[in-house]
Amino acid sequence: MSDKQPIEEILKFYLLSGVSETCGSSPFAVSAVEKPTTTARPAASEASISAASALQNAGDISASATTLAELKQLLENFDGCSLKNTAANTVIGDGNPQAKIVFVGEAPGAEEDLAGRAFVGRSGKLLDKMMHAIGLNRDLVYICNILPWRPPGNRSPSDAEIAVCLPFLKRQIEIIRPEYIFALGAVAANSLLGLGETMSHLRGHWLDYQFADGQTAKVLATYHPAYLLRTPAQKSKAWADFLRFKKEISQNN
Ligand code: URA
Repeated sequence: MSDKQPIEEILKFYLLSGVSETCGSSPFAVSAVEKPTTTARPAASEASISAASALQNAGDISASATTLAELKQLLENFDGCSLKNTAANTVIGDGNPQAKIVFVGEAPGAEEDLAGRAFVGRSGKLLDKMMHAIGLNRDLVYICNILPWRPPGNRSPSDAEIAVCLPFLKRQIEIIRPEYIFALGAVAANSLLGLGETMSHLRGHWLDYQFADGQTAKVLATYHPAYLLRTPAQKSKAWADFLRFKKEISQNN
């Protein structure tokens, strides 16, 4: 072990503890950690308080919307998710708001962000084709996303971003009140249902989405169209899911 290593370890420990500056001639003075005057600890707890209050606000604010237009307005005024700052548009959904069927994806991509409409890019074109193949189209379904704002560079959304946007999506689903939900991708299915499963566990059987009053919509999960574009070998499984979906909706409608 070199002599430098303990010093590096102490520095790492200080950084992890939230100490970002020194206040004395020695950078390792104990007072740097102990002094309550250090600003790092309050900053860390302020961050968690503001995350918790953003979550609380998201719940309260979204609950006040009674129409999709109101919900969109509330989202546009909501400052609890920084994704809004880098997005060109707030994308709440596309299609028929009176539909019995709702498709839920993950988040707008670059084209959706620019157009302000869900699933209009390459993934959307594939989704349209798969819908048409089972007799559906955007006049018959509503399409939305877990997140209304594009994560920069299409990165995966963080758990905190999903958590703060979810109350708005759930309110959207309450307003539309579908009978069936088709969840596109594991992020959509897990976020909606509060699960943490892989797609191979999620797909192939019907699940329940619970509305605020305890009633349920039937949920089927399948692969996200973007994944199918990257992994065409899985298209046959997605096709089987679409056929299962078609069978169920034609039996009951
Ligand atoms: N991918 C999604 O999950 N949603 C979109 O709207 C577009 C691409």
